[in-house]
Amino acid sequence: MRSKVTVVGAGNVGATTAQRIADKGYADVVLVDIIDGLPQGKALDMMEAGPVVGSDATVTGTNSYEESAGSDIVVITAGVARKPGMSRDDLLFTNMKIVGAVTVEVVKHSPETILIIVSNPLDAMVQHAYNLSGFPRERVVGMAGILDTARFRTFLSLELNASVNNISAYVLGGHGDSMVPLIGNTTVGGVPVASLIEKSRLEEIVQRTRDGGAEIVGLLKTGSAYYAPSAAIVQMVEAILFDTKAILPCAAYLQGEYGIDGLFAGVPVKLGAGGVEEIIEVELTPDEAAALKSSAADVQELVDAMAANPQ
Ligand code: APR
Repeated sequence: MRSKVTVVGAGNVGATTAQRIADKGYADVVLVDIIDGLPQGKALDMMEAGPVVGSDATVTGTNSYEESAGSDIVVITAGVARKPGMSRDDLLFTNMKIVGAVTVEVVKHSPETILIIVSNPLDAMVQHAYNLSGFPRERVVGMAGILDTARFRTFLSLELNASVNNISAYVLGGHGDSMVPLIGNTTVGGVPVASLIEKSRLEEIVQRTRDGGAEIVGLLKTGSAYYAPSAAIVQMVEAILFDTKAILPCAAYLQGEYGIDGLFAGVPVKLGAGGVEEIIEVELTPDEAAALKSSAADVQELVDAMAANPQ
């Protein structure tokens, strides 16, 4: 029997994610959205690509959650995306309401599922979903670090004319302006990046990484990124479905790791059939450790704002 993955939100990120999963034939996909006809139309269109791409995966579009029952993984992308001039934090209360309502429905129909949260502001949304789900921390994880790291690796590859495959990096912390690229752990073919790019230029590349999402929003004008985000989501789906134990930067609930307790933050985790099977503690420089703490404090502010405005 094929696995079952539900994707909630049939917009840019959700639909592209569903398409990638269906094209690869990884799982049967259920696409849920509140707009009548949208998930149904996109699902049928995707399934009709099956004979061409050689996939037997079924794709079902729906406005309710019955069809999602018993999903192995549920990816939540429902919400609004930012427009030029908006920060991810500007989406807080709108998306809190949407992600909250979606989580309650998802959990009702798939009590054993693993939740991958994507809606922004990511770290606050994953915390909200975790609180409402009642799931253990292993089964609630947020997608951000793979995307931020992919942007960093892309910019480094352009700078050095080197293959992205040879660039190894970690971007940790919150999915926002305070994300923390670990320069000391970044290597190109095993060579530390700091010996290949001078400090001031490296700082520019780090800043472009921090602004990576906004750069796309500025160009698109009507929405935010979805090709790289969906690729990052599918890398997490793959690790869980196929129990690969891949170590990937994801938003995970910390209970003392990295000196952070009771909060989601982007850290390297081992992803497998059990979800977040392990939180990997890499050694940080004092500056990186301080930056991670400060990034967590930014996330805590959003979490406090949500607690002060229960909806
Ligand atoms: N239930 C289900 N779907 C919903 C709900 C809800 N309660 N509310 C909104 N949606 C759907 C919308 O109808 C829309 O189709 O979520 C979809 C969002 O799609 P887009 O507007 O295209 O946004 P997208 O670019 O996919 O981004 C979604 O992911 O990366 C983040 O910041 C981004 O928070 C945003 C989310």
